[in-house]
Amino acid sequence: MSEVYISAVNTDDAVQGLCDWSEKYRADKGHAPLAYVHSYGCQQNVSDGEKIKGMLAKVGYDFTDEIGDAQFILLNTCAVRENAEDRVFGNIGDMKKLKEADKELVIGICGCMAQQEHVAQKVKNSYRQVDLVFGTFAYNDMYSMLWEVISKHKRIFNQSDVCTEIDESLTQLRDDKVRAFLPIMYGCNNFCTYCIVPHVRGRERSRKPEAVLAEVRQLVEQGYKEITLLGQNVNSYAYGFPQLLCSINEIPGKFRIRFMSSHPKDASFELIDTIIDCEKVCTHLHLPVQAGSDRVLKAMNRRYTTEKYLEIIDYARSRVPDFSFTTDLIVGFPGETYEEFCMTKDIIKRVKYDNIYSFVYSRRSGTPAAKMQDDISDKQKGLWLRELLMEQREITSEWFGRFVGRTVEILVEGEGRTGEGYLTGKTDENIIVEVEADKKYIGEFINVRITKAMNWALMGEQV
Ligand code: SAM
Ligand code: SF4
Ligand code: F3S
Repeated sequence: MSEVYISAVNTDDAVQGLCDWSEKYRADKGHAPLAYVHSYGCQQNVSDGEKIKGMLAKVGYDFTDEIGDAQFILLNTCAVRENAEDRVFGNIGDMKKLKEADKELVIGICGCMAQQEHVAQKVKNSYRQVDLVFGTFAYNDMYSMLWEVISKHKRIFNQSDVCTEIDESLTQLRDDKVRAFLPIMYGCNNFCTYCIVPHVRGRERSRKPEAVLAEVRQLVEQGYKEITLLGQNVNSYAYGFPQLLCSINEIPGKFRIRFMSSHPKDASFELIDTIIDCEKVCTHLHLPVQAGSDRVLKAMNRRYTTEKYLEIIDYARSRVPDFSFTTDLIVGFPGETYEEFCMTKDIIKRVKYDNIYSFVYSRRSGTPAAKMQDDISDKQKGLWLRELLMEQREITSEWFGRFVGRTVEILVEGEGRTGEGYLTGKTDENIIVEVEADKKYIGEFINVRITKAMNWALMGEQV
C-alpha cells in the first residue's frame, strides 16, 4: 500500500507561507535561502529537476552547487540500477553531520527511487536526517509538503501513485541556455521484464501538441539552438510522433531537433522518412536494441525480433548510407548464455553504431526478471561487458573515419578536452568534435573540416 500524503495546508497558503518565510530569511541573513537540487539518472529526471527548481525559485529560493551552503538539499533520484540507489544512500548517510550542525536544514529525496515503498520505509527507519521523501507523482504537492516541514518540523513521506493531469503551469528553470530538454510524454506502458521505470513512473501520458509547440516556440525565441524531445517511448506519443516532428520543423528559426528514446517495436519507416525529410531533425536515431538474441529479447518482453529491428536500420541506410544509430544494451540478463551474449556482439558489428550505452543487468525488486534464475556471476558479466566495449571501440574508430575530409556543422557546447584553445561541439549525428576556435563561438553553429577520427571524437579545423 502506497504511503499517501494528505496536505494539512492548501497550495496557495503554502506558497504564501514560503514566500513570507524566504523574505524574512533574506532580511535576516542578507541573502535568499539556498537550495541544492541534484538530479541523477536520465534526461527525464534532469527535466523534472528543472521543474522543481522553477517551483522553488517562485517562492524565493536561490540555488547553490555547494551542498554545505544549502538550507534545502533535494536529491532527485534514479532507480534504474542498483548502483544508482547505492550512491544515494551513501550521499544521505554523509548528510547526517550537516543536519546535526544545522537543525533547520531540510533534506529531501524525490524521483524514481523515492517512489518505491521499500525505499521510503528504509529512509524512515534508518536515515532520520531526511525530512521529506516524495515520488514522481507528487511534484504538485511540493509546496504544501515543504511548508509543513519548515513550519511544523514534520517528516513527510508521499509515495502516492494517483495520476493527476499534466500541470502545464510548471515552468522549468533550465541551467543550459543553448540546449533544452522538453518532455512530450511521461510514464511507460511497456513493462520490459528487467525495468523498474513503469513501476515508478506509471502509465503513458502525452502532452497536447499545442502545449509542446508553444513551448518550442518560446525556447526558440529565447535563443535555444537544440531541443531534445523526451519520452520513454516517443513513438507511442498519443497524437502522432512523426506529425509532431513535422510541426516543430515548421517553426521558423535556426535550431536542431533531437529526441529520445524510441522503442524498436513502434519505430516505423514513416519515422525514418520524417527524420530524413525534416531539415531541423537530426539524422540520428537512438534505438535501444538491448540484446542480440531473439530468445533473450522475448524473455525481456521487448516484442520485436532482431530481424524486425534490422529492417529499420536497413531502410534508413538505404536512404542515407551513413545514417547514425546509437543504442542501449544489457549484458547478462538472467539465463543469457555466452553464445547469446556473442549475438549482441554480432549485432553491434552488423549495425555499426556511432556509440553504445551498455550496462550489466541489475536485479530490480518488483520486476518479473528479478524472479528469474540467474547463474552467471556479476564478475563474469563485467568481463562480458568489457569484451563488448572493446569491440565497440574498434567499430567507432573505423566508422567515425567516414567523416574525415568532410565539412560538417557543429553546435559548440563549451571548452574541449584536447587542451588550451580547443572547443567541443556535436555534429548533427550527435558525435563529439574537438576544434581550435575562439571561445566567442560557444553556443553557436560553426563549420568544421574533419581531419582525424578517434575512438571517442572527431578532430577538425574551423572553416
Ligand atoms: N525507455 C527507454 C527505452 O526503452 O529505450 C530507456 C529507458 S531506461 C531509463 C535506459 C536504459 O537502462 C535501458 O534502455 C536499458 O538498457 C537500461 N536498463 C533498464 N533497466 C535495467 C536493469 N535492470 N539493468 C541494467 N540496465 C537496465
Ligand atoms: Fe523500461 Fe522498457 Fe519502458 Fe524503456 S520501454 S522505460 S526499458 S519498460
Ligand atoms: Fe530515469 Fe532512472 Fe527514473 S533512468 S526514469 S530516473 S529510474
